Amino acid sequence: MPHKLVIANQKGGVAKTTTTLCLARYFAERGLRVLIIDTDPQGSVTLALRGTNRVEHDLHDFIVRQLSFDLCKLTVAERIDVLPSNKETTKVDAILGLNPSQLFSFRGTFAPVEKGYDVMLFDCAPSISVVQTAALIYAQRLLIPVAMDILAIHGALACLETAQNMNEFYNNTDVRAVALLPVMVDRRLQATKMTLEMLEKIASKYELEVLPAIRTDQAVQRANRGKAFLADHDPRSKALEDYAAAAGRLSEIMNVNTPISTTAPAEQIAEEAAG
Ligand SMILES: Nc1ncnc2c1ncn2[C@@H]1O[C@H](COP(=O)(O)OP(=O)(O)OP(=O)(O)O)[C@@H](O)[C@H]1O
Ligand SMILES: [Mg+2]
Repeated sequence: MPHKLVIANQKGGVAKTTTTLCLARYFAERGLRVLIIDTDPQGSVTLALRGTNRVEHDLHDFIVRQLSFDLCKLTVAERIDVLPSNKETTKVDAILGLNPSQLFSFRGTFAPVEKGYDVMLFDCAPSISVVQTAALIYAQRLLIPVAMDILAIHGALACLETAQNMNEFYNNTDVRAVALLPVMVDRRLQATKMTLEMLEKIASKYELEVLPAIRTDQAVQRANRGKAFLADHDPRSKALEDYAAAAGRLSEIMNVNTPISTTAPAEQIAEEAAG
């Protein structure tokens, strides 16, 4: 069974896609096979890696047209595949929304895909869509990146409340946040200090952990502009170092075993990954 995780916050621009890509790369470098499912009609994952969300096949083709998974997936790096999204995903929303039982359909839809992966990451739009609800019911686990402003805190709280409501509303549903991830952290700023304090309070109320923070780092934006993974664009960047620490702790919380040592130097990891 792969580990499944939804990366969500109802606020836009809080590094959901950046976090998804950095986690995917972290796990893949450590020998795990990763599938990213893009559920955002903006098609952010392919936009970030290819500069376009135009693809031959997409999430809609897989879920609604029931085309083969192999036809719909894109391989974007060693051990990282993407099920891409674009505006067609809004049609998936409309169709799944017609019948509440469809919210549970991802269990069947993704069952044949699961054996090919160790980790499945769902990148989300900055809203609660039907597709995102289906993803949450399927994955059951939620990671919430929180940028250092009050709106991102509100977005995180909305996600936590949504998870609670889903558990009350639907049978056999145990959607739980695994952690909060502070992102775009600049400790010199008062807003950062206040937001981190609020995050600690929320974490204690919901019995969650706050992962090691990700610092603000222009290398992330340069990697986006270069349509590259941060690890390829700048292997020595601060944010990459922080994502490694956060992903390491997340792996412990989720009991993700990585076959390749996480303490090895980067060159050794690359050699081990190459086989
Ligand atoms: N640690 C960081 N330091 C500096 N900039 C960052 C950092 N993380 C993300 N960014 C930038 O913030 C912007 C938003 O990031 P991203 O697209 O990952 O957010 P998102 O939550 O997925 O957005 P959306 O809600 O639109 O899907 C991007 O320009 C990205 O390069
Ligand atoms: Mg995004």
